Amino acid sequence: MPSFVKWPTLVLCSIFLIIYVDKAISSQDIMMNLTKGFAAALDKCKKELNIQDHIMQDFFNFWREEYQLVNKEFGCVVMCMASHFDLINEDSKMHHEKAHAFAKSHGADDVLAKQIVTMIHECEKVHEGMSDDCSRVLEIAKCFRGKIHELKWAPNMETLIEEIMTEV
Ligand SMILES: *[C@@H]1O[C@H](CO)[C@@H](O)[C@H](O)[C@H]1NC(C)=O
Repeated sequence: MPSFVKWPTLVLCSIFLIIYVDKAISSQDIMMNLTKGFAAALDKCKKELNIQDHIMQDFFNFWREEYQLVNKEFGCVVMCMASHFDLINEDSKMHHEKAHAFAKSHGADDVLAKQIVTMIHECEKVHEGMSDDCSRVLEIAKCFRGKIHELKWAPNMETLIEEIMTEV
């Protein structure tokens, strides 16, 4: 192949890569901001539900893909936090419009907010047969985490903890 053919290809590939990586980074930043916003209710729910340290560990490690989430109390706390932001219906399901608005208020655009709501809704559908609310929410949270990791949108835990620590 003559070299003048290769150059445009290389340039195009680089541009594509830059745009792609850039987009991946900004969704990750928003997930970080969303996590932080959601975590603002953790303290209140921690007191309200009198949760133990091992459940707090689950929160600090939540975005680590390899970390096993097995405590159903984790699901109870997530539900408490979601209720705090009024994101849950009477039937313990996500309120779509409010969840969409919550994502937007944390920096997501309409497309991203819709993607997030859709992912959570898909996870709800997979686990809708579970009658125990806390266990079901735990499974939904795990399912959502898996989807976010597939997209490489998971917030970086070190950065997140650093940011939370400096704000407290
Ligand atoms: C992050 O979320 C806060 C609300 O908690 C919002 O005011 C802020 O604009 C968001 N930041 C970005 C970069 O979107």
